[in-house]
Amino acid sequence: MPKNKTEVAPKKGMARLFEIAKAHKGLVVLSGVFAVLASAASFIPYLAVYFLIREIVAVFPDFTRLGAAGMMNYGLAALLGVFANVLFYFTALVFSHIAAYGTVYELKVHFVAHITRLPLGFHIGTGSGGLRKIMDENIESTESFIGHQLPDMIAAFAAPVFMLVLLFAVNWRYGLASLAGILIAFMIQAMAYGGEKQKARMKEYQSSLEAMSVAAVEYIRGIAVVKAFHQTVYSFKRLHDAITAYTRIVISFTLNWENVMSGYITLTHSIYLFLIPVGIFIAGHTTDYAAFASDFLFYLVFVPAIASILMKIMYTSSISMQVAGNVERMDEVLQKKVMPLTENPQRPKGYEVGFENVSFSYTENPEDAALDRVSFIAKQGETTAIVGPSGGGKSTIAHLIPRFYDVHTGAIRIGGVDIRDMETADLMDTVSFVFQDTWLFKQSIMENIRMGKPGATDEEIIAAAKAARCHDCIAALPEGYQTVFGRKGVHLSGGETQRIAIARALVKNAPVLVLDEATAFSDPENEWLIRQALGELMQGKTVIMIAHRLSTVSNAHHILVMDKGRLVEEGAHRDLLKRRGRYHDLWDTYTQTLSWRLEKGGASHD
Ligand SMILES: Nc1ncnc2c1ncn2[C@@H]1O[C@H](COP(=O)(O)OP(=O)(O)OP(=O)(O)O)[C@@H](O)[C@H]1O
Ligand SMILES: [Mg+2]
Repeated sequence: MPKNKTEVAPKKGMARLFEIAKAHKGLVVLSGVFAVLASAASFIPYLAVYFLIREIVAVFPDFTRLGAAGMMNYGLAALLGVFANVLFYFTALVFSHIAAYGTVYELKVHFVAHITRLPLGFHIGTGSGGLRKIMDENIESTESFIGHQLPDMIAAFAAPVFMLVLLFAVNWRYGLASLAGILIAFMIQAMAYGGEKQKARMKEYQSSLEAMSVAAVEYIRGIAVVKAFHQTVYSFKRLHDAITAYTRIVISFTLNWENVMSGYITLTHSIYLFLIPVGIFIAGHTTDYAAFASDFLFYLVFVPAIASILMKIMYTSSISMQVAGNVERMDEVLQKKVMPLTENPQRPKGYEVGFENVSFSYTENPEDAALDRVSFIAKQGETTAIVGPSGGGKSTIAHLIPRFYDVHTGAIRIGGVDIRDMETADLMDTVSFVFQDTWLFKQSIMENIRMGKPGATDEEIIAAAKAARCHDCIAALPEGYQTVFGRKGVHLSGGETQRIAIARALVKNAPVLVLDEATAFSDPENEWLIRQALGELMQGKTVIMIAHRLSTVSNAHHILVMDKGRLVEEGAHRDLLKRRGRYHDLWDTYTQTLSWRLEKGGASHD
């Protein structure tokens, strides 16, 4: 069996980001080297200014002794430093961007490859919107991390090293004074950043943000209902609560930061205050006032730069934390187990579908079993109907046959072969399904039906549409079969959409057919059309059909009654009625509502 490539080492945060960056190690290291060079070059102007100050102070107060050429050279050196800084930084970004785009490309390819191998059921649960966001935003953000934050961060961490060297090289006493200021600023920051409490707060902040966006999406989805019932925002309690909770957390979060941040920023901008006592001390103990003046002036010029150097460290690390969060979302999906592929695929010898002691639950907890030890056989060429109350597990049975999910215990066999031992393509060729929520793609109706069998001729498709009783409604569309579904002005009813989905299944003509009947479109005309369409579809097939109208069921060869995930009764219509059990009860209720409906209908015609 191919080794499961998707077992991602469970690294998180920065460690995970570095792991991702390692894919293009050479480029990233090159970019880092240039970032460090750029950072070193950025100090050249300060050095030039220092020497300039020294020259000026040396000739004070007779400035005529200043050599113009020497001055110009310092100016040029400063300019060169700036220029080198820009050039090196640019080079660093070129390398980092090549690495970044390569990484994003590989991550996306890996991600797509992974999600196509996930159980189909995963996609039902997750929805395309969430996956698209991961592709478009989360993975994309690693581009900004590797392309920008990483070189910036390397530069930001290299800068303090150069800074300290410079601080101590010129005059270690001032250097010590500045370092004291810097250390105090850092201690304040460490107090705010470190600590479990802060981490917990950050988590709380993240999840409240998420809750708010989930509630907002839900609110927008339900806007039609909200409008129809004249509801206000306040009546949409969940969104309102989410916004209030978010506001509360953000305010307390911000207030908590207020003191720390003001302290930190004030300190980093006021490091010269630490210089003054040292300056006074040195002035009192020296005779070389020229050296004293030039040193002191240099530190006064240089020390404000410390603030911006330290702020950069903070800034780059906070953005990197966001990217790390984005990557975590991607990893959550990558850690989902893919469907294991079979080692020696087998082809079914017939098309009988058998459930053997199948248990399944949608969650990790086997207690909430959606199916509990279900066994039955759906014979080849026969129709097996599944009935039972809502939530009984009917759709779950339907979803397990095309392997939307894998069973937890037991096995499902087609023609004696465990479906897990079949090639995915074989299984898909063997089983076709029409589910409660049919899905048409934004392409022509013709192509929508052709999806059932790529390569089907137009004649085949039209024949299938006729058999599915949707030819007339398609022909009535503005561009007939070429009409693009989902375009403006193209209206298909739910029943018509279902019949197109049936045509798609007809074209596919697979030997096993799984039908999850839609209840929503039950006007008699459509019901009749769908029944006829299905009649064509079902001929000679192994049909497993979930029916909500028992009239459809009574013709089935075999009936399964599901309740709370268990198979409670099975047999033919007549036998089940005679047994006077669950099926009999269901039938009773059904016939009562039916006669009730007929009476009503009759009354309205009087
Ligand atoms: N995607 C899902 N995630 C978690 N639980 C689910 C999911 N789909 C169904 N369930 C649960 O599994 C159980 C069986 O659901 P199932 O959809 O199979 O019922 P059903 O018989 O088809 O009902 P209905 O007649 O309403 O269509 C229910 O308790 C349901 O809440
Ligand atoms: Mg269902």
